[in-house]
Amino acid sequence: METIIKKITDNEIENDKIIKTAAEIISRGGLVAFPTETVYGLGGDSFDPAAAEKIYAAKGRPSDNPLIVHISEFDDIYKLSDEVPEIAKVLADKFWPGPLTMIVKKNKSVPVTVTGGLDTVAVRLPSHKVARKLIKESGTFIAAPSANISGRPSPTTAKHVIDDLNGRIDMIIDDGSIEIGLESTIVDLTEDVPVILRPGYVTFEMLEETVGKVRLDKALMTGVKENVKPKAPGMKYRHYAPKAELTIIEGSPEKTVARIEELVKEAERKGQKAGIMLSEENFDKICSDYKLCLGSSSDENEIARNLFACLRKFDDMDIDVIFSEGFSEEGIGQAIMNRLLKAAGHKIIEV
Ligand code: TXA
Ligand code: MG
Repeated sequence: METIIKKITDNEIENDKIIKTAAEIISRGGLVAFPTETVYGLGGDSFDPAAAEKIYAAKGRPSDNPLIVHISEFDDIYKLSDEVPEIAKVLADKFWPGPLTMIVKKNKSVPVTVTGGLDTVAVRLPSHKVARKLIKESGTFIAAPSANISGRPSPTTAKHVIDDLNGRIDMIIDDGSIEIGLESTIVDLTEDVPVILRPGYVTFEMLEETVGKVRLDKALMTGVKENVKPKAPGMKYRHYAPKAELTIIEGSPEKTVARIEELVKEAERKGQKAGIMLSEENFDKICSDYKLCLGSSSDENEIARNLFACLRKFDDMDIDVIFSEGFSEEGIGQAIMNRLLKAAGHKIIEV
């Protein structure tokens, strides 16, 4: 299949044409990759089971892993659920449009293909202008996972989407780099208190401040153990994974740098090509042709924005092993470490 690729520019008339073309593709059952404020999404009509099947096929994603339904205004949620709790309105007033996904009981209109067989549905109202216009223009809601091949890091540029999905979907809307760079926070509203199933830009503290008591899903941060299943099915799969094996090194800056140097030497002795992922503060302390800077450790937003792109760059460099320093789990740091730990298969060395 030939994929149409169109770039968003300063020309609003042209942009409207692009969005119109994309909306038409969605409404006749096709797939369009589009920018959101978190990561690029791969969208299809959320009321069309065949479109959902196409999404699973294009991504190579297991069909028990449900999709997020994207809406363009708050009241749309009532078309997906007959049991929207009060707290959804409170959260929406504070965080929508924006990087928060809410899980509520689904009604009959939502196909089980979209929800991976669950009786709940994930709903998100994105703030990205192109995403919202596309949803409105398509006259439906848009089911969209991240626009990557299943298991690879989520795409934060159109190039990432092209690398993974060119030739497999109808259209890609290119709007350059993404603002946040990590997927939305997912909060489950079907329990006694809101439960965070996936940390993101909207943090535990921000949620707690807005609604009082909040819990973290047990399977978070510790990884998936046999007796603790994550409630978001997607969190059980190996994710965000670069081709190389990744290890996180955590400790004081001096000890971390020293241990990474040792590990790199050891790998090189074995004939392996070793990549390093560092903060700006530690970047000049190690010499290597294969090092990437994630940004300043005092600016978590920058690290969040760069993380997935760096993991993909290592793939392009044909690296065998990657060593990364660990980061603080304050604020969005919790989301950064959640993704990094998953990419590393929870391999950490404490020094
Ligand atoms: O920022 C985002 O959320 C991006 C953009 C495109 O909006 N989307 C995204 O979708 O990250 P995806 O499919 O890559 O991740 C969706 C996650 C999966 O882990 C899935 O298991 C979980 O949401 N999920 C979806 N519906 C659910 C439900 N009803 N109950 C529990 N988890 C659900
Ligand atoms: Mg994803």
